[in-house]
Amino acid sequence: MSIIFKKETNQFYLHTQNSTYIIELLDGRIPMHAYWGKPLRDMLPLVTWKSAYVLSQNALDTGLTGDFASSASLTLECPTYGAGDLREPAIHAEYADGSRLTRLEYVGHRLIDGKPPLEGLPASYGTAEEVTTLELELRDSLTQLTVVLQYAVFEKLDAIARSTRVINAGEQSVKLLKVASANVDFYNKEADMLYLEGLWTRERRVKRETIGNSYHRIESRRGTSSHMHSPFMALLSPDTGEERGDAYGFSLVYSGNFEGIADKDAFNKIRVSMGINAFDFSWLLQPGEVFQSPEAVLVYAHDGIGGMSRRYHDFIRRHICRGKFQYESRPVLLNTFEGVYFNFNEEKLLAMAQRAVRIGIDMLVVDDGWFGKRDNDRSSLGDWVCNTDKVKSGLKGLGDTLHSMGLQFGLWFEPEMVSPDSDLYRAHPDWCIHIPGRPRSLSRHQLTLDLSRGEVQEYIIQAVCGILDSAPIDYVKWDMNRYFSEIGSPALPRERQQELPHRYMLGLYHVLETITSRHPNVLFESCASGGGRYDMGLLHYMPQTWCSDDSDAVERVYIQHGTSVLFPAVTMGAHVSACPNHQVERTTPLRMRGHVAMAGQFGYEMDITTLTEEDMTLAKEQVDFYKAHRSTIHFGDMYRLYDPMKAPFAAWQYVSKDGEETILCTYVIASIPNIAAERVKMQGLDAEASYVESETGRVYPGAFLMQVGYAVERRADHVSQMVVFRRV
Ligand code: DGJ
Repeated sequence: MSIIFKKETNQFYLHTQNSTYIIELLDGRIPMHAYWGKPLRDMLPLVTWKSAYVLSQNALDTGLTGDFASSASLTLECPTYGAGDLREPAIHAEYADGSRLTRLEYVGHRLIDGKPPLEGLPASYGTAEEVTTLELELRDSLTQLTVVLQYAVFEKLDAIARSTRVINAGEQSVKLLKVASANVDFYNKEADMLYLEGLWTRERRVKRETIGNSYHRIESRRGTSSHMHSPFMALLSPDTGEERGDAYGFSLVYSGNFEGIADKDAFNKIRVSMGINAFDFSWLLQPGEVFQSPEAVLVYAHDGIGGMSRRYHDFIRRHICRGKFQYESRPVLLNTFEGVYFNFNEEKLLAMAQRAVRIGIDMLVVDDGWFGKRDNDRSSLGDWVCNTDKVKSGLKGLGDTLHSMGLQFGLWFEPEMVSPDSDLYRAHPDWCIHIPGRPRSLSRHQLTLDLSRGEVQEYIIQAVCGILDSAPIDYVKWDMNRYFSEIGSPALPRERQQELPHRYMLGLYHVLETITSRHPNVLFESCASGGGRYDMGLLHYMPQTWCSDDSDAVERVYIQHGTSVLFPAVTMGAHVSACPNHQVERTTPLRMRGHVAMAGQFGYEMDITTLTEEDMTLAKEQVDFYKAHRSTIHFGDMYRLYDPMKAPFAAWQYVSKDGEETILCTYVIASIPNIAAERVKMQGLDAEASYVESETGRVYPGAFLMQVGYAVERRADHVSQMVVFRRV
């Protein structure tokens, strides 16, 4: 059993293979965070040993004196506003009389084999063998506000999925001002904070900073999880490196406004909290109603950032992604966007398709521009009707032709948006997010549909399913290309206006659940101007995400390197595009573009009718190579061997789960004159075994590859390789 309650000490032990998380009920009433780290079987009860706390407000009324008299000095599992703890609360509520104080005490707990789903939200899942759940029930005795803290313990992956359910068991309405998904108070800790920061076309750069005695925050207020910060952060010990030291990960299964906080007080306690952004959020909870927070997946790794990443990769593949494609090899695709943008007709598509067949591509994806009057990005979003001036035999005709050529058919949608120049907007100008009487700001010439409205959700379901039912479509790219502005919904009453961003997410999740379950054989890929909504929430519905609109091979090394801190390659859409590159005008060899894109979900995004015969031959070799080795890249263990942020050189390695195959990928971003060959020390091999390099037949001892290394030249720009070794 991974969860044990020791009644004599009032402690809950949450054991995984390589970690223990301990909660102690102080005075039998107040859940304290007692420990999280390497396995620990016995923790001395907190009240029995000396801690360096000081006195301040004594508002928790613990009946204890000295060290434990102050709520500000406690390490709390669920801190609330108003009861003497002046740090960031996990629960902040306003009651009918205007008071905001909540005081929660333990009333009971239950253990569940397996894990119950979270109402209306994406969440991790698993069998009773894989996960056991603890629910701790807390209550405010005055207002009857009830809070259930859920801890789902995934024993094999050292992961605990935490969420918070708030129930208004009182007789008057309550306004929730903040509900964190998870709060962990680390005691007396020196730590760094690692997070993923970026912008459009520059997503997910790895940032690491020391947590001083101050407040650190990552967040989104944009309506999507955003390009700027991923809803993920990790606490690292100062000496933690790529493959050693403690790493504590926090990743939210949510795609909207979020906050992640690390707040270190004068006693060096660090409070880490993650959940829906409290900024401009409130939720009116009527008597009997329940508010369910999204969940945060917490991972402890004793083996560094890489160890944390590998656990998240396994977790996302097994416990977040779902459906037919979860562990399946997916089609190599040719996407039309960077090749022809809006300027195509059926002849052009079929010419591209013919070329695609020659090099072994599996699917043609018709990106933006196939519907309404969409010849540029200024019109027609919302009018999901095929433009037969461009696709003269219609979607069914085109799909049938592609299928007869042996190709699958993929189609782009941007269902959450509306163009002012569209029949949809003319018919329903109130269906977008807006504030009556205020101008509606356009972004990329479009407005955001108000997905909090049932009729809008229904319209999107009908529109997308209508198209999917009408033609043989194998794949959908679900795009979303703007952030929120003028956040308001005339469909919501005054006191619920701040609920809109979360209601939007609930609406989106409902739409996605409905469409994907009606079309289980369609592969869905999400996109938000590239990687503006790359999170564990959307991966629950769509098992891959377009990583970035930046398809330059060099930029992609940085982007995919950072992305891999959390996400496995199987989720990462990555394409070879034309040169000079359309985002940065850099020219890189087709070989390097292939090697970078093959470390993800591989495809091409260029007008391949213009490729030379020589390039066609190389492209065919790339597709063949990728198909032969993708399962190691997608489902194996990844090691980041060289960090391109430190020097203009990157190396990644993938080891198949059975240890039989390993692939070393190296990328010279910029050459250095007169530099000796780099000895790239590999990881995760069997030191006693030997490995044969597929291309040369040369045999290397495992210990040699790990301790001496594989020699890689760094003398020319943009030289790359993918070296395959098989265990002898
Ligand atoms: C933004 C996406 O990220 C691109 O890949 C492309 O689909 C365009 N939208 C189409 O408008």
